[in-house]
Amino acid sequence: MSNRIQFDTTYADSFLTPEELARMEETILDANSTLIGRAAPGSEFTGWLDLPINYDREEFSRIKESAAKIRSDSDVLVVIGIGGSYLGAKAAIEALSPAFYNETNMQGGKNPAIYFAGNNISTRYLDGLIKAIGDKDFSVNVISKSGTTTEPAVAFRVFKELLEKKYGAEGAAERIYATTDRERGALKKLADANGYETFVVPDDIGGRYSVLTAVGLLPIAAAGLDIDALMEGAAAERSELMSLPFAENDALLYAAYRNVFYQKGKGVEILANYEPGLHYVSEWWKQLYGESEGKGGKGIFPASVDLTTDLHSMGQFIQDGSRILMETVICVDDPGVEMKVREEENDLDGLNYLAGKTIDYVNKQAMAGTAMAHVDGGVPNMMIHLPKMDEYSLGQLFYFFEYACGVSGYALGVNPFDQPGVESYKKNMFALLGKPGFEERREELLKRIQ
Ligand code: PA5
Repeated sequence: MSNRIQFDTTYADSFLTPEELARMEETILDANSTLIGRAAPGSEFTGWLDLPINYDREEFSRIKESAAKIRSDSDVLVVIGIGGSYLGAKAAIEALSPAFYNETNMQGGKNPAIYFAGNNISTRYLDGLIKAIGDKDFSVNVISKSGTTTEPAVAFRVFKELLEKKYGAEGAAERIYATTDRERGALKKLADANGYETFVVPDDIGGRYSVLTAVGLLPIAAAGLDIDALMEGAAAERSELMSLPFAENDALLYAAYRNVFYQKGKGVEILANYEPGLHYVSEWWKQLYGESEGKGGKGIFPASVDLTTDLHSMGQFIQDGSRILMETVICVDDPGVEMKVREEENDLDGLNYLAGKTIDYVNKQAMAGTAMAHVDGGVPNMMIHLPKMDEYSLGQLFYFFEYACGVSGYALGVNPFDQPGVESYKKNMFALLGKPGFEERREELLKRIQ
């Protein structure tokens, strides 16, 4: 079996004509030249393009050393960050660790439990996490490229104080790892002042493209996962996508198909998986595509479902609701573990017709049956084959989605590397919180509330 990921259009081809694809090919090739030519708006944030072959080896070694230290002195690692500063790590750890890894690790497993904070502003969440940590030994990786984002800053204050109470100021500083800008921002100042181990978010890589920088790599390595294999997978994918012609280039084809479908009225793309461990890969993907494409009144709305779970909740809509949907299914070819349905003498549950079959066989038949049903319901189904749930495959998948997103965004006519819309809520929140510098907006907003 090949160890390469593969884009498969078997269940999508009937929804477009060769002429439509050929017309889109031109747009996509132009967008591809724009991306790799680095001459268009946003090009200053394309450092991720060469990252798999051109990363800071010294920092990479320090990441491994810090991960080893965390693994030796901590039962828990609290990863503090939001958006691009947490979703990649969360996606990789959930996909590659055994299910329920945190429960096992909290009971003395070989890796630290990894919990995420600073991705919401919920007191109940913080309180629950503090209780879950209890008297366990823990470390903190605080991640913020800007170093000023409110959600992680608030959570960091809480966990810094906890660490200082437990280990003293010096002991706490040895358990805090800060991933932030090379020079700027409040977090950088704090890290320098307190002597934290720091890692850099490169200037030319935006949050949602940062999973293969220290942002993703430190938590992933701390979870006991193989970051060399992750980078190797990404490098292999990069080499293919940078060289293969359109007809064989998975990322260009994916960008082309989804843009043809968008032009034909499919304004929503659902990313579907049949492995619960991929749930956060979908969350990461949603941020990547949503923030990259959703601007200027344009963009495909990225949604996701976990199947077969959501066939019992969203299945009706996908099959039969507004015909605005296209679907992309991630198929894990080999789940890496095997379980069979056993034969029972009395067959009271009527399942003996499956006896001897693997549970994954049942899953795959559900997947094929669903794809065909959705096609019959007018939903084009694109499929991405992931050979395994391992680091090498996931490295390929991350790079594949990033590359296709850059191309797709330029094809759509937007700058895929900015996110002007994200600022609006922040300005209102700062004004309502009374942050200095936001007085005028505060007055305006207060008038609207009264
Ligand atoms: O992709 C992005 O740029 C954003 O989602 C950021 O990652 C997110 O807002 C967090 O920003 P920061 O890392 O500056 O705290």
